[in-house]
Amino acid sequence: MTPLDKRVPGRTLAAIIPPPAQPLPVNFWRAVRRQLGPPIRPGPSLPALASPGWRRRAGAGGNLVNTLRQHRSATFWDDMYSAPDIRPAPIPRAEIGQFQDRVAASAGPAVIDVGTGLGEWACRMSKLGLTVTGYDYSPVAIESARRLHHNHGPLTFEVHDFDADAIPRHLQRESVDVVSCRHVLHFLERPRFIADARRWLHKNGVLHITTAVAEKMRDGRHVGLREAEVRELARGWREYDRYDVDPHGEITAVVLRGPYT
Ligand SMILES: C[S@@+](CC[C@H](N)C(=O)[O-])C[C@H]1O[C@@H](n2cnc3c(N)ncnc32)[C@H](O)[C@@H]1O
Repeated sequence: MTPLDKRVPGRTLAAIIPPPAQPLPVNFWRAVRRQLGPPIRPGPSLPALASPGWRRRAGAGGNLVNTLRQHRSATFWDDMYSAPDIRPAPIPRAEIGQFQDRVAASAGPAVIDVGTGLGEWACRMSKLGLTVTGYDYSPVAIESARRLHHNHGPLTFEVHDFDADAIPRHLQRESVDVVSCRHVLHFLERPRFIADARRWLHKNGVLHITTAVAEKMRDGRHVGLREAEVRELARGWREYDRYDVDPHGEITAVVLRGPYT
């Protein structure tokens, strides 16, 4: 329990925020606290959301994580990123090292970062010599990312909603070497997004997904993808690789290569 849990009885914050093991912006908790003055959106309490009726309506096998996605929106993230003292947290050196070894060294240079937030991960990828475009549906995040990283290499940021918007003109078929998706996939309409990513990637391109594994969260929070969903990602790709980003396997990374079998 955090003090915030006490302020919103019946609603576990874990359901609303990303896991702490992923890089949260500095002062993220203060921003969340501000955000949670009133409940984010009037609606059923978390126990109600977990009920079988709600699970059925949530679809995707009654996945509670999917159900909770309904409580996020671009506006939610805009508010989060509007906190005056919000700054990106640094990316652990080991994480970017693993990405470099397993993906950057062997894929081409054209990268898109899906749900880039404040753009820190996109910036680190660009420092590896990659040409990165970071997309996010929060205009506030994109504005901040542009301001924070304007001097850093071949790096651009664009507003785009991967669930709702038409595909951007410059995302052509087989135009991208790496699609990076860090702590975002569980927010997206997965079938549409994966189909899009497969189309955008070159024949040897890589979809790189970093996600929390819901069952492995040692504090019991249901965030990220379930283990079965992580395994399911392998379907239809020529190569599947996986490695854990932290020693406990709470955060895992999946490397999907070769969209055409
Ligand atoms: C947990 S943050 C991760 C930010 C960043 N990738 C990182 O690793 O620090 C999730 C991000 O996904 C973005 N997002 C969620 N759904 C999205 C969508 N449909 N289209 C674009 N961005 C989305 C949110 O605005 C937010 O910035």
